[in-house]
Amino acid sequence: MAQIINGKEVSAKVRENLKKETADLLESTGICPGLAVILVGSDPASQVYVRNKHLACEELGFHSFEYKLSENTTQEQLLDLISVLNKNPKVHGILVQLPLPDHLDEQSVLYAIAPEKDVDAFHPMNVGKIMIGNYEVLPCTPAGVMELLDASGVEIAGKNCVVIGRSNIVGKPMSMLLLQRSGTVTICHSKTKNLADICAQADILVVAIGKPKFVTADMVKEGAIVIDVGINRDENNKLCGDVDFESVSPKASLITPVPGGVGPMTITMLMKNTLRAAKAQNGIKD
Ligand code: GUN
Repeated sequence: MAQIINGKEVSAKVRENLKKETADLLESTGICPGLAVILVGSDPASQVYVRNKHLACEELGFHSFEYKLSENTTQEQLLDLISVLNKNPKVHGILVQLPLPDHLDEQSVLYAIAPEKDVDAFHPMNVGKIMIGNYEVLPCTPAGVMELLDASGVEIAGKNCVVIGRSNIVGKPMSMLLLQRSGTVTICHSKTKNLADICAQADILVVAIGKPKFVTADMVKEGAIVIDVGINRDENNKLCGDVDFESVSPKASLITPVPGGVGPMTITMLMKNTLRAAKAQNGIKD
């Protein structure tokens, strides 16, 4: 039976360290990390995420700047706000909550954020830096996965790592981070042939495909480490991951549950990026 990786516990430990680091920074330099979050429209899930980001700022002692804009906000108005925030020295991180309403051009909005304030790591400058391996910020979800693997003492070098999903937010950067740690990385996606066979070769399997209980026991090697990035609702409207936890956990050596695995890590990683950005923007080495 697999040991369960407790994301809540790891997240709480990281937050404790961040809180202390933030207090030290304020005391020694007077700098308080500031995070600006922009929400356009009233998508209910996005409202919850934005609220949780605000609460995390309060918990750690960050400045929180919240902008709730109407559904009808124009591209120009949004770009103007980003431009003002880019110039505000109290704002070290800027996050535009996705998805944006259809009439807004997501790409040009994300590209308008100053790369040094891009705490999502979505700007091409930061994406490129991750590819090269010389980066300051990492996208929150893959960074959270790496933190969980490290907290669990998982050795990555030389391991067969299979990532299911090739999104810009999770799959692609996740693969790069595993590669950087000398994993042998395979990226699978909707057109992959023999997906089950490839997954069954994985020592470390990271699943970010967005399909409830997609990975079943027959796709998992005995003793594999299984990381589930999915958040879905099952047929009974209960939260579930992309992995069929019930059948897979007896086979795995380590596994993340949903909820309580990768989920609790993401906002914590956003806070870590913001603190890092605050230090970098003030010439303070980490
Ligand atoms: N919406 C869902 N996940 C994310 C994320 O990681 N960043 C942003 N900006 N929006 C999101």
